[in-house]
Amino acid sequence: RRPWVTLKAALSLDGNMALSDGTSQWITGEAARAESHRLRGENDAVLIGSGTLKRDDPSLTVRAVEGPSPRPVILCSDPAVLEGNYNALRRDAIVFVPEGTAIPPERSGHVYAVSSSAARPDLKAALEKLAELGLARVLVEAGPTICSAFIAAGLADEYQLFVAPVFMGEGRKITTSIRLRRMDDAIPMTLRGVRTAGRDLWIEGGNPCSLDWLKQ
Ligand SMILES: NC(=O)c1ccc[n+]([C@@H]2O[C@H](COP(=O)([O-])OP(=O)(O)OC[C@H]3O[C@@H](n4cnc5c(N)ncnc54)[C@H](OP(=O)(O)O)[C@@H]3O)[C@@H](O)[C@H]2O)c1
Repeated sequence: RRPWVTLKAALSLDGNMALSDGTSQWITGEAARAESHRLRGENDAVLIGSGTLKRDDPSLTVRAVEGPSPRPVILCSDPAVLEGNYNALRRDAIVFVPEGTAIPPERSGHVYAVSSSAARPDLKAALEKLAELGLARVLVEAGPTICSAFIAAGLADEYQLFVAPVFMGEGRKITTSIRLRRMDDAIPMTLRGVRTAGRDLWIEGGNPCSLDWLKQ
């Protein structure tokens, strides 16, 4: 009842996805960015949060390689975002808002109110709706808030991490919302491949639980 979720992120060696002021373009180089476009082409949907929508206004299309562009999916808690003239919204985006949000009639069929936790659309509920809509593969290309929420919830089945050989110091980490007390609680990733993409390190991994499920 859920799509297969691939989490893609560009990181520094110290785990930052952006500087504290939100600057993130471009952490990784051209080769890594071309791989990101290939990944978009392999997925039915590409998911971001309202933070990335507002800050970067990405179009989320496939450009550097041939292939179909995935359907944009946006998670947000403020319906005012729907009034913005954002590139992804112009591309028939699916938007998830928390339950109880009034959806303008002209937006019905694109905007879904799903159950919420902490006044934000619940990730599992949003994924279940995407599966219901026939979207079987979802690429998460969001910022640190949503990425860390997916990792913490164990909802990232696969990881595609592009690590630039730079240190960024104090910044916005991929694990921004995760606080562990014991090493035993560390969230594991099964390493599936390590190579380079141009000047960057390219780490492919999987969620051990998802890989066990695939083997069944
Ligand atoms: N390096 C990379 O790979 C990469 C990729 C993408 C973005 N970025 C950078 O990341 C920065 C933006 O970071 P961000 O963390 O704000 O972006 P984000 O994770 O894409 O969006 C976060 C926002 O999504 C909304 N949201 C809705 N449902 C949520 C849920 N269930 N859990 C958590 N959040 C939920 C929240 O805002 P509301 O509740 O207010 O709607 C939250 O503040 C920008 O600087 C961008 O350039 C970097």
